[in-house]
Amino acid sequence: MKNTATIKVIKGIAEMRRFSQEARKRGAKIALVPTMGALHEGHLALISAARQKANVVVVSIFVNPLQFGPTEDYTRYPRPMRRDLAILRAAGSDVLYLPDARRLYPPDYETRVSVLRLREPLDGASRPGHFDGVATVVAKLLIGVEPDRLYLGQKDAQQAVVLRRLVRDLDFAVRVVVCPTIRERDGLATSSRNAYLSPVERAWAPILYAVLRDAAARVRSGEIGDPHRAEALMRRRLSAGPGRLDYAAAVDSENLGPAAPGRPWLLAVAYRLSSARLIDNVIVRPRRRGR
Ligand code: PAJ
Repeated sequence: MKNTATIKVIKGIAEMRRFSQEARKRGAKIALVPTMGALHEGHLALISAARQKANVVVVSIFVNPLQFGPTEDYTRYPRPMRRDLAILRAAGSDVLYLPDARRLYPPDYETRVSVLRLREPLDGASRPGHFDGVATVVAKLLIGVEPDRLYLGQKDAQQAVVLRRLVRDLDFAVRVVVCPTIRERDGLATSSRNAYLSPVERAWAPILYAVLRDAAARVRSGEIGDPHRAEALMRRRLSAGPGRLDYAAAVDSENLGPAAPGRPWLLAVAYRLSSARLIDNVIVRPRRRGR
């Protein structure tokens, strides 16, 4: 099915489902890469990972109103559709699924999907309703596309944890694949929202990853064995920045509960600059005591 020249654009939910059912009848394996568009290297890495394992790669572009808070950037979120289409053609994705907001959420729409405990900490604390919005739209995309594999980025660590649990709890027959974070040359995690940064903010932003890496190195070496110390170190090092720290956290990477010595930790930060809120994270295995 690899064809870099053509891409099928599907807008209707029923048409998407028909396409997938027919592809599966032919024996094709289908991968879904859900996005909100404004495509960049991070999205492209997911598409190329999907290409390796699936015969049909479906990329969805949908700026999901349900996951934006009332004061967030829903209306100004970039929507460079012609550019995105050209990028997808070059990347060799087979289908661009472009569901329509009025069809996905008609005026009398009422349903939410909530991954209860996992939606609460970290970004959930400063973005109430965000993960219900994410879980709801991804559930609808999974029902529409019925993929064999779902590709997500580690950049949005809590989102990946929430969606893994959604898939497990609701028995979706899909394998979740989480791909590593793609970064700019100076370490800043690639993001559609980086375009909002002023030159001064952009110059400062790589410190987020530098602070995460430094904390991770100290946890890995055993110098830091207490998650609260890791949090305090990150908080201290980010306190002199030009914006405001939302959180600096060291939690269990799989259940977002308290970090424990024998299990991988998620070190995660969210930082508010005047024009954008940046998030980043690393996963680290703490060195066992006595080794
Ligand atoms: P969006 O921000 O467009 O991201 C789409 C996918 O790309 C997500 O899985 C995200 O984690 C991944 N991604 C973004 N930046 C990345 C980077 N630098 N490296 C690796 N992967 C990266 O996340 C969303 O959209 C939405 O919440 C969505 C899942 C589509 C639901 O609306």
